[in-house]
Amino acid sequence: MKKTWWKEAVIYQIYPRSFMDSNKDGIGDLMGITGKLDYLKYLGIDVIWLSPVYKSPNDDNGYDISDYQAIMDEFGTMEDFDVLLDEAHKRGIRIVMDLVVNHTSDEHKWFMESRSSRDNACRDYYIWREGKDEKTPPNNWGSCFGGSAWQYDENTDMFYLHLFSKKQPDLNWNNPAVRKNIFDMMTWWCDKGIDGFRMDVISMISKTAEMPDGKVTDFYGDYGPYCVNGPNVHSYLQEMNEKVLSKYDIMTVGETPGVTTELAKQYAGEDTKELNMVFQFELVDTLGKYGKWTDEKLPLTDLKKIMTRWQTELHGEAWNSLFWDNHDQPRAVSRFGDDSQEYREVSAKMLATCLHMMQGTPYIYQGEELGMTNFPFKEPEDFRDIESINAYSEWCKSGKVSHEKFWPCLLFRSRDNARTPMQWDDTPQAGFTTATPWISVNPNYKEINAKEETSNPDSVFHYYKKLIALRKQNPVIVYGKYELLLADSEELYVYTRELEDEKLLVVCNFSAHETSFHAPDEFIGGQCMIANMENDYSKGCISLKPYEAFVLTKKD
Ligand code: GLC
Ligand code: CA
Repeated sequence: MKKTWWKEAVIYQIYPRSFMDSNKDGIGDLMGITGKLDYLKYLGIDVIWLSPVYKSPNDDNGYDISDYQAIMDEFGTMEDFDVLLDEAHKRGIRIVMDLVVNHTSDEHKWFMESRSSRDNACRDYYIWREGKDEKTPPNNWGSCFGGSAWQYDENTDMFYLHLFSKKQPDLNWNNPAVRKNIFDMMTWWCDKGIDGFRMDVISMISKTAEMPDGKVTDFYGDYGPYCVNGPNVHSYLQEMNEKVLSKYDIMTVGETPGVTTELAKQYAGEDTKELNMVFQFELVDTLGKYGKWTDEKLPLTDLKKIMTRWQTELHGEAWNSLFWDNHDQPRAVSRFGDDSQEYREVSAKMLATCLHMMQGTPYIYQGEELGMTNFPFKEPEDFRDIESINAYSEWCKSGKVSHEKFWPCLLFRSRDNARTPMQWDDTPQAGFTTATPWISVNPNYKEINAKEETSNPDSVFHYYKKLIALRKQNPVIVYGKYELLLADSEELYVYTRELEDEKLLVVCNFSAHETSFHAPDEFIGGQCMIANMENDYSKGCISLKPYEAFVLTKKD
């Protein structure tokens, strides 16, 4: 297995809108991020993944880009960006940009040209089809954010495809001019000195030429078989690699809905020339009661099966990215741990132990290092996210499901849980802004905030700091081979990591019960590398408290 800096790095994701507001307008911005670089340096992370900061009308909070080479007004200027990049680099922190090129905003100049007439030079930059008639789209596909995936455009009497919102028309990657424009734009950013790309829904850029109706699930037909991992996706990425990526020392991670371990080896194999790693969605996007919407926890045995498959099948062949949450997911501690007063801290540390001891590059989503929790939304008007708002109207306002049944699912899964402002201190608005924030601050900010946690050595923050430092000191954590023990336990997640003569035992109690565990002989009398509470590891039988976690080294 080749050693590379990005395999050894820990990445921190920033959602700029919610990170830090420097100019008191209630919206996070680039100068706000620059002002917090020392905090990130202190935590010990190596790389920042910046969710989109480009010019955007914000239909989907920046994932709808109207100009790839300009900064969103609310976030600042290109000069502010240059300062951020420079200040990050001075501290040894790299910056990875979000690359959203499956679609643009409908306000991008390419799309405005494209829709202007059937024979415009940019017409073929997007995916236009004749409808069955004026009111009936070319096929039954549904968009990720509800409604049809096709939008009728009166001007030219045709429909355009949008797998996300109707303000996010899909680019036509089949058109070489589209690819050239994108590769030139990427080159421009690389020449500026950025350190990589996180590629938004990159597994969806290639669509089959035939676009038949999809299997109807709840409301619309599924476009999956025709748009996800489509026929040319690998050749497009190889071309991108050849023309752009291979020329720079940068890292790439693909957001790849629908990816399997087999496909991951193609997208991000040690020897395939496409991406460095991918995000898999088997863990976080399991189907719920109503499409993705559910209030049920994944059984631990299922969670272990998924993680173990990725750990073992990619070993030596491709590289994993490790994450519990991001800006599209609820908060890790609320979803996989226990966010009650009693267990929030200990379960947040347990989850961190479980993930950060695995093979792959760990991603920390802003606030996760504080154990930030889901938000107690009270009414539909509290949501800002287009997906949550549309889902509520599609499922509830239509009468398909009652409010009572759907509401807990929305609370459990809404992307807005992750998007409430970062909790910096215990002053009003959690120190994020002095204005009214664009989305409410979680009322628990007085107890859960960075100021308190950076000064408390037992905090979740300091636990993350320690995990990050351990990864830097122990190659076994980065490169070691993973093996699962106790596959059938619904309480304990236990695995080992092994590299040459180093071996670690990782034990995590995912339950709120006490339980016990017989350590394999080779670990009895070993050293404790990190733990979220005290225990006696000198005996073979170790009793564990709720959500207890520890890592032991092999006895010498
Ligand atoms: C990705 C992003 C998500 C966005 C979508 C459309 O899944 O992570 O936030 O809404 O793509 O760009
Ligand atoms: Ca601001």
